[in-house]
Amino acid sequence: MSARNGHLPPGPRLPMPVQTAIWFRGAQRFLRTCHARYGDTFRLQIAYEGTWVFLCNPDDVKQVFTSDPKVLHAGEANRILLPVVGPQSLLLLDEDAHLEHRKLLLPPFHGQRMKRYGELMSDIAAREIETWPLGEPYKLRPRMQAVTLEIILRAVFGVQEGERLERLRFELRRLLDMVTDPKKAIFLIALGPERIREHGPFKRDIARVDSLIYAEIRERRGADDLADREDILSLMLQARHEDGSPMTDAELRDELVTLLVAGHETTATALAWAVERLVRHPAKLERLTAEVAEERDEYLNAVIQETLRLRPVISLVNRTLKEPMEFGGYELPAGVKVAPCIYLVHRNPEIYPEPDRFLPERFLDNPPGTYTWIPFGGGVRRCLGGAFAQFEMQVVLRELVRRRTLRPVRAADERVYRRAITETPRHDAEVLVA
Ligand code: HEM
Repeated sequence: MSARNGHLPPGPRLPMPVQTAIWFRGAQRFLRTCHARYGDTFRLQIAYEGTWVFLCNPDDVKQVFTSDPKVLHAGEANRILLPVVGPQSLLLLDEDAHLEHRKLLLPPFHGQRMKRYGELMSDIAAREIETWPLGEPYKLRPRMQAVTLEIILRAVFGVQEGERLERLRFELRRLLDMVTDPKKAIFLIALGPERIREHGPFKRDIARVDSLIYAEIRERRGADDLADREDILSLMLQARHEDGSPMTDAELRDELVTLLVAGHETTATALAWAVERLVRHPAKLERLTAEVAEERDEYLNAVIQETLRLRPVISLVNRTLKEPMEFGGYELPAGVKVAPCIYLVHRNPEIYPEPDRFLPERFLDNPPGTYTWIPFGGGVRRCLGGAFAQFEMQVVLRELVRRRTLRPVRAADERVYRRAITETPRHDAEVLVA
């Protein structure tokens, strides 16, 4: 089929503000409806974003993830995060600057190197789980956030117990709330990334966080044991740019906040969904508990992979086209955003029979495919913390099923509720702990 020049794929004819409102009320439902009506390639018009062309065919997904990153920019799409993560954040960079920063940050996130954080992670998880009240309805998503925040503060920032850890925990919690609580984040979106920086309360919150982070960086630069330390900040301090120069304090600050924003709520939400799914499938929870007791990881990994398939924390990734490119038979112009649709690729019945069922077994003999299992995106922009997040999920779920039994508070599945960035369980994974 020859490409249809100048024609965008079909999509709803509703005005942009209406499409935007429907999107924010229930992105996944909107995606399902559009897919049923228009097929694997369709278009939405979203305020502040422009034209999004959704791609659900794995061949198109592969094309996005393997094409020249000079033509497909990811950094532009994340500009809304600029006031929080700062201009040198990996999330905002493109092309050569992105690749250079990514090379600096990648080594500590390598799969094998993650293992060194295992003991720290299990201590943090165990301590948190022991505080949960027994026999009364209890929402686990906020508790999982406490665990993932603590893990980032200790494993990534490398902050020791003490007053600075307490102040950082408090100040970062406040900042993260502003970015991720939908009621507060809508205000950020409405102001736009340029004006928000001048907004008084926001400026004060950022300044407080920054002064604590800069103090930590300064102290760490002078630490005698820097070469022996294993936290990610200490490793970043020893990394060198291609010209041999170390990362500046401002670069380190932006990347630390980036890792926090990208890694904390996402992993906590994935953990909350794992619990939400498992408590509604008691036989699978029992199998998991039994295999963990035998120190086997196959089913645990399959549970994590299936959770991230069925309840992906993020529904899409996107790239801005810098030149025209053909997708799904359409010659798309520069400026359009192409969006591999994580949610719909994961629901394709030809790839995943009975796609709505929670079936960790489907992954036991079939490892996830590079372009069909994409909860962490792909290509040169694939989530830097993918291995870290899955390892962290293993550790926390292991501690949980070893120590406690869980039951759902209500029989019905929890619906998907969109917070500012993530798709979370409507009732925050509410359970009865015993
Ligand atoms: C279950 C948990 C997580 C999920 C579902 C998730 C998902 C994602 C997705 C979808 C992207 C965009 C990929 C793309 O555009 O192709 C991304 C990027 C990123 N993630 Fe994660 N993430 C998780 C945990 C983490 C953790 C724990 C960290 C770090 C501690 C992290 C750090 C990053 C960074 C730095 C990027 C930007 C990469 C780049 O632009 O080169 N993420 N993540």
